[in-house]
Amino acid sequence: MSESKYPNSYTLAYLSGEEQIPVPKRRRKWNNYIEIKGARENNLKSIDVRFPLNVMTVVTGVSGSGKSSLVSEVLYQAVKRHCENLKDGTVQATSVGGDLNLIKLVEFVDQNPIGKSSRSNPVTYIKAYDEIRKLFADQPLAKQFHFSPAYFSFNVEGGRCEECKGDGFIRVEMQFMADVVLECDSCHGKRFRQDILDVEYRGKSISDVLDMTVEEAVEFFSQGKGSQEKKIAEKLRPLQETGLGYIKLGQSSSALSGGESQRVKLAYHLGEEKAQPTLFIFDEPTTGLHFHDIKTLLKAFDALIERGHTIVIIEHNLDVIKCADHVIDLGPESGDEGGRIVCAGTPEQIADCKESYTGQWLRKMGKTAR
Ligand SMILES: Nc1ncnc2c1ncn2[C@@H]1O[C@H](COP(=O)(O)OP(=O)(O)OP(=O)(O)O)[C@@H](O)[C@H]1O
Ligand SMILES: [Mg+2]
Ligand SMILES: [Zn+2]
Repeated sequence: MSESKYPNSYTLAYLSGEEQIPVPKRRRKWNNYIEIKGARENNLKSIDVRFPLNVMTVVTGVSGSGKSSLVSEVLYQAVKRHCENLKDGTVQATSVGGDLNLIKLVEFVDQNPIGKSSRSNPVTYIKAYDEIRKLFADQPLAKQFHFSPAYFSFNVEGGRCEECKGDGFIRVEMQFMADVVLECDSCHGKRFRQDILDVEYRGKSISDVLDMTVEEAVEFFSQGKGSQEKKIAEKLRPLQETGLGYIKLGQSSSALSGGESQRVKLAYHLGEEKAQPTLFIFDEPTTGLHFHDIKTLLKAFDALIERGHTIVIIEHNLDVIKCADHVIDLGPESGDEGGRIVCAGTPEQIADCKESYTGQWLRKMGKTAR
């Protein structure tokens, strides 16, 4: 593609086949599993199914075949009840057992925003901001004026600009029209009082840091000498791992797309130090994602599995399905004509199954290891 007018276009690279999501060389083996027997929610026909642990399982099937019924209503609810030790309420299944005890937490990772407040942002969400505030409070000027870490927060009174309450902008409600957003007159969008902005770490104010991209900040802080700086860089790195290196530290959560919000949530889990074995559930995580983002998402899944977690995904995307260790194909059709397991196994085994629509597509598109 050397003659392309758009040498940096990921879309072109994928369309031309130059960049691809490869079929994994091997499928992970598994021994442990959660076993559901007699699942009957909605259209499910009293099915028995195993969800293997510490691998990636993809649940497939036509729309209305029963994927959400099985994964969101039965699996998620049952594991949640187990983890939270809830005694009341039941799920529509005869039994849920197997190695359930090996799972300590369950997370349903959706594309909903990560915080409602305009002041919540990716860096506060992954808890990296606490360390940044501490670092600023440790600078000589801050010590001289007794600015504690809280002074470098835009969530509480103290150091933030009170005119805009740390937003940096003022929202003006207009009758019959969309709100108008104006830069704050008092702080000029810098979100803090001037004496707080005067505190600098290696020539950067807290506002300058919030204006850095994740990429720039990782670079900047990893050049620092102390362990505190290293810690900040470490905390930010998961955002890079989930492909969010381009977002600004101070970017409001409400300005993130659904896919970005979902990856911030993933980054939070990737950054957890002593994470308990967790079951992560996703319902169509690739909705709205570009090929390149899908590749990054798959890498993040791998990283979670390496940390001992389990992934269950509902997905139509063949590039994700072909990367699964285990596929559970529901159907064969929708509604009452669905709700059964058509086939379960590796993508290669699904492709060998004549009755499976998913298998037919995997074969047709050459999406298997053979
Ligand atoms: N609350 C409900 N009450 C009764 N029937 C329901 C309910 N929710 C879903 N169904 C029915 O159960 C069947 C399976 O639905 P389900 O949502 O599990 O499908 P799905 O495979 O997740 O589909 P999609 O890919 O469209 O999300 C469908 O026929 C649906 O109409
Ligand atoms: Mg569904
Ligand atoms: Zn202001």
